Formats: sequence, structure tokens, C-alpha cells
Amino acid sequence: MIIVTLLLLSSSLVAVTLSQSCNIRDTDEGTVCVCNAKYCDSVPSLDVSTGKYQVYSTSKTKLGFESTSGDLTEDGTEIEGASAITLNSTTKYQTIIGFGGAFTDSTGINIKSLPEDVQSKLMESYFGKSGVEYSLCRVPIGGTDFSTRGYSYDDVENDTALEHFALQEDDFDYKIPFIQQANELRGAPIQLFASAWTAPPWMKTNNDWAGTGFLKEEFYQLWADYILKFFEEYAKQNVTFWGMTTQNEPIDGFVPNVILKINDMGWSPSQMNKWIGENLGPTIRNSKYKDLKIMIHDDSRITLPLLLPIINNETTMKYADGAAVHWYTDFLIPSIALDLLKSDKEGWFFISSEACAGSLKVLGFEEPVEKGSWRRAASYIDDIVDNLEQGAGGWVDWNMVLDETGGPTYINNTVDSPILVNATSKEFYKQPMFYALGHFSKFVIPGSVRIEASVGEDLEDVRVVAFERPDNVTAVVIYNSGSDEINLQLRDSGSQSATIKIKAMSINTVLFYEK
Ligand SMILES: *[C@@H]1O[C@H](CO)[C@@H](O)[C@H](O)[C@H]1NC(C)=O
Ligand SMILES: *[C@@H]1O[C@H](CO)[C@@H](O)[C@H](O)[C@H]1NC(C)=O
Ligand SMILES: *[C@@H]1O[C@H](CO)[C@@H](O)[C@H](O)[C@H]1NC(C)=O
Ligand SMILES: *[C@@H]1O[C@H](CO)[C@@H](O)[C@H](O)[C@H]1NC(C)=O
Ligand SMILES: *[C@@H]1O[C@H](CO)[C@@H](O)[C@H](O)[C@H]1NC(C)=O
Ligand SMILES: *[C@@H]1O[C@H](CO)[C@@H](O)[C@H](O)[C@H]1NC(C)=O
Ligand SMILES: *[C@@H]1O[C@H](CO)[C@@H](O)[C@H](O)[C@H]1NC(C)=O
Repeated sequence: MIIVTLLLLSSSLVAVTLSQSCNIRDTDEGTVCVCNAKYCDSVPSLDVSTGKYQVYSTSKTKLGFESTSGDLTEDGTEIEGASAITLNSTTKYQTIIGFGGAFTDSTGINIKSLPEDVQSKLMESYFGKSGVEYSLCRVPIGGTDFSTRGYSYDDVENDTALEHFALQEDDFDYKIPFIQQANELRGAPIQLFASAWTAPPWMKTNNDWAGTGFLKEEFYQLWADYILKFFEEYAKQNVTFWGMTTQNEPIDGFVPNVILKINDMGWSPSQMNKWIGENLGPTIRNSKYKDLKIMIHDDSRITLPLLLPIINNETTMKYADGAAVHWYTDFLIPSIALDLLKSDKEGWFFISSEACAGSLKVLGFEEPVEKGSWRRAASYIDDIVDNLEQGAGGWVDWNMVLDETGGPTYINNTVDSPILVNATSKEFYKQPMFYALGHFSKFVIPGSVRIEASVGEDLEDVRVVAFERPDNVTAVVIYNSGSDEINLQLRDSGSQSATIKIKAMSINTVLFYEK
């Protein structure tokens, strides 16, 4: 009897998964949360009910999703000394597709460098129910600069029948197993989209991975067939895709090798139209993968003028479903430029498809990795809010995991990542950027619809984006970039309000049922 009681007790103890707080470590640039085989912080579970609100908070001084809750008040009267945010759920904007990062080779290499029990903590952190639940992720078609070598799926010169087409060890070792695990942890397939950096060199004018080079016109159809084969081969591994982009950063393919060594392939707008209209579009739409979302652009804001002849081409637009944009020149071009990504086509959308901190190292402005940097988290938040306010359906990070130098990258293009690993000490570090993006990915779930949120004029340092989720929970992300704590009244579209303290330099997600 005692044994049975003990067994029952212990099993009920196991069933209650308590959330863990950040195991904080100070760094030169700020703080990180340390995870190892024994310990990793997690996100407290969502527990909202009518009349109550829950707030998750991460601040510069306290990383982790600190959760508090309280009662909503009904009278809706203004509270003296409290600044206000007011929602209007009658005004609706875009539907959210998701948030996430990229399954680069380097991401897989770094995860694999950890013991298995640490690997599972890391995968849980990104994809599990106690993690930030990434839902929209990118997969490179072949190698990128975040690989250990240049490679494609057919490096046999002049193999115009694609007889030697084959996925590589890199796919089987670094990408596929982690994508499969991520799908299992999520309990549903993650919406994956694929992007190619380059065709095999022999299909290109410069016969090289990088530098100024274009797809030879005689291989336009072959390159479309090659991409279709990629989807077929990944499907054999139970990895199915939601979408694809037409080319990673086509502008890179105009830049000489001495300046930029990133694997690339250039496309002028008319070349791109011809390839989509005559090759890629028909090939995909006449295949088993006809429902793939085809996204154009996949390049930075500064190159948006080059999108105009593409997004205005009727034939191209018969095949394109949406557009994708990278963040690398966002500090130069105001977010209003994102309007160029919009179209009246039914169901049209755009997402932000790549971002990372540390790329300005080439100009001597910053270090590739600034471990623990809150400034970098802030730049993620500002960019995500800019994109969402402009209508983006999602925001996707670059490498999900790098080492502490910002690699590996075979061309030495080291940059930062939300999670860094230290294989020697068998631990990994969640940087402030992890929490910044997590405040969106975790709570602004796919299918959420953005609603209007107006911020009181006195709240100069506050930015807000609000959403109605498919489970009818309202999620409001509030970012305070100022150095003062704010006493804030959040009013819903009806008569309810919550009075919340918003810490200095913090990101917060408030969740509740509207009334
Ligand atoms: C809320 O949005 C609707 C639809 O755009 C608008 O008609 C209404 O005036 C707004 N309400 C307030 C209080 O601004
Ligand atoms: C591939 O084709 C090109 C163009 O026809 C030719 O110059 C080259 O020698 C061929 N390479 C091989 C290895 O057959
Ligand atoms: C794919 O999924 C099926 C059914 O769940 C399973 O039997 C098969 O082993 C999986 N294949 C791979 C390569 O994971
Ligand atoms: C649109 O693209 C097609 C190729 O798909 C091309 O033939 C046509 O000239 C383009 N139209 C314009 C107006 O540029
Ligand atoms: C990368 O850096 C290493 C070590 O500094 C150097 O040996 C190598 O040539 C560099 N590679 C490239 C592509 O710049
Ligand atoms: C990783 O951890 C080890 C052991 O604690 C430490 O000596 C080293 O400095 C850390 N960083 C790197 C980059 O290896
Ligand atoms: C959300 O609210 C709508 C309208 O009140 C209702 O029809 C729907 O069933 C609700 N959905 C869920 C998941 O509760």
C-alpha cells in the first residue's frame, strides 16, 4: 500500500513539469543563460482564463520568460499616472505564418558537437512545448557559407541528365536528423521553406561557387529539375516543405569574388522572370509539389527596386505566392520600403527570411559575436516590430546555433546567433536574442491575426504589436527600450483592462481573453 502510494506520488510529481528559470552568467557584453545536461531554463506554461491576464517578461537585467498573472478590471476607466495602450480588434491586418531560424550545416555541426543529453535540451529550447516553439524554418538547398565546404547535389561536370544527383553527407549528418527531431518535438510539421545559394559551378558562367556568375541559359530547365529533385529526395526522408524562395540574395552574384566569397548566383530581373515563367513555375506546378509557396526576392531592402520588374510581371505572378526579404540593409532603408513587397494578388504575403547580428564586422563596426549583448536583442525586436507593423507574415533568423567564434564557416564569414555552443564544456548559451525572438515565436502562433494597437503619446520608448490568436487568446508584445520602469494600462477592445509594470529595457508578452 505504502509502495503504491509512493509510486502514485512520484508519478504525479513527474507529471507536474515545473518551469526553470535562467541559469545566468555574466559576460563581457551582458548576460546569457547557461544550459547543460543537467539544467536548462524553460518557458512557464500558458495558463489564461476569462478575466485574468498572464505576462511573460524578459529584461536586460533578467533573462528568461518570467511569468506573472493578475485580474483584468472591468470598469475601463483611466488609471491616474498610468500610460495607456488601447487595442481595437475590429481593425485587422495580416495573418501570421510563423517565426523561426535556419537549419544550416553549421547549426547541425554545433548541435552535434554536444553530448546527446545536451542536444536534446537545445532542441527542446527551440522546438519543444517548454521552449519557444519555432514554426517557420529555412533549409538551404545544398551548401552555404555556413558549411565546411562548397558543395552541390551534382558536382559531376556536364551531368545534364542529373544522373549523379544525390543528397550529401552534410544533409544526412547536419540537417535531416535535426529537422526530423524538430517536427517530432513540435508534434506537427514545421513549415519549412528551401532556398538555393548557387547551382553547381558547371551550370554557371563563372564555373565557381562565388563571385560574379549567372546560370547558363542552356541550363535553365535543368536547374528547375534539380530543385524539384531536392524536394523529392527530402520527401524520402519524411521532410516535406511548405515553400521555397527563388534564389538566396541574387544581388550577391553580381559582386566579384575578391569582395564577397559567399556562395551565390546572380539573376537580373529579366533573367529571373524568364526562369520563373518558363522553367521553375511550370515545373513546380506540374509536379507533386504543386502547392509549394514560391517566394520571390529573398534579398535585402536596398535591392527592392530590382523586385519591381519581377513583381509586376504577369507571367511571374501567375506562379509566385509571396515575397521574402533580408534584414542586412535595414538600418539604411526605412521600413516603409517594404510596401514594395506587397501585391493585390489573392493570398499574397511577405516574410522576413534572414537576419543575423555581426555582419557589419566587415566594416569594422562590431565583433562577429558579442556574447550576451542586449543591444543585439534590441535590434532583433525593433526589426521584427518594423516588419510586423508593415505587414510581414513572419520573421526567420539565420543560423540557429553557432560556436563561440561565430562559425564554422568555410569562408570565415563569422556572425552571431541566438544560441552559442561550447563543445569543450558541454554547454550552450542562450543569448538575449533568443528571448527577443522567442517572445514572438512562442506566443504569436501561426494563424494569429494582427490587430490595431495604439500607444499613448507619452510612451515614447514603447512599441507594441497585438494579435488575435486562432485559440481566441489575445497576445500583445510590448517592448520598452527606455531606462525607466513604466506603469502601464492595457485596455482591450471592450471594457477590460490590465495594469502592468513594464520593466526598463524589457520585452513582454501579455495574454488574455478579450471580452
Ligand atoms: C476600431 O476599428 C474599426 C474598424 O477599422 C473602426 O471603425 C473603429 O472606429 C475603431 N474604434 C476606435 C475606438 O478607434
Ligand atoms: C563540359 O562541357 C563543356 C562545354 O561543352 C566542355 O568545354 C567541357 O570540356 C566539358 N567538361 C567535361 C569534364 O566533359
Ligand atoms: C518515414 O516515416 C515512416 C512512417 O512514419 C517510417 O516508417 C519511415 O521509417 C520514415 N523514414 C525515414 C527515412 O525517416
Ligand atoms: C514577363 O516575363 C516573361 C517571361 O516569363 C517575359 O517573356 C516577358 O517579356 C515579361 N514581361 C515584361 C512586361 O517584361
Ligand atoms: C579563413 O581563415 C583561415 C585562418 O585564418 C585561413 O587560413 C583561410 O585561408 C581563410 N579562408 C578564407 C576563404 O578566407
Ligand atoms: C569553453 O569552455 C572551456 C571549459 O570551461 C573554457 O576553457 C573555454 O574558454 C570556453 N570557450 C571556448 C571558446 O572554448
Ligand atoms: C473563438 O471565437 C469564435 C467566435 O466567438 C468561436 O466561433 C470559436 O469557436 C472560438 N474558437 C476557439 C478555439 O475557442
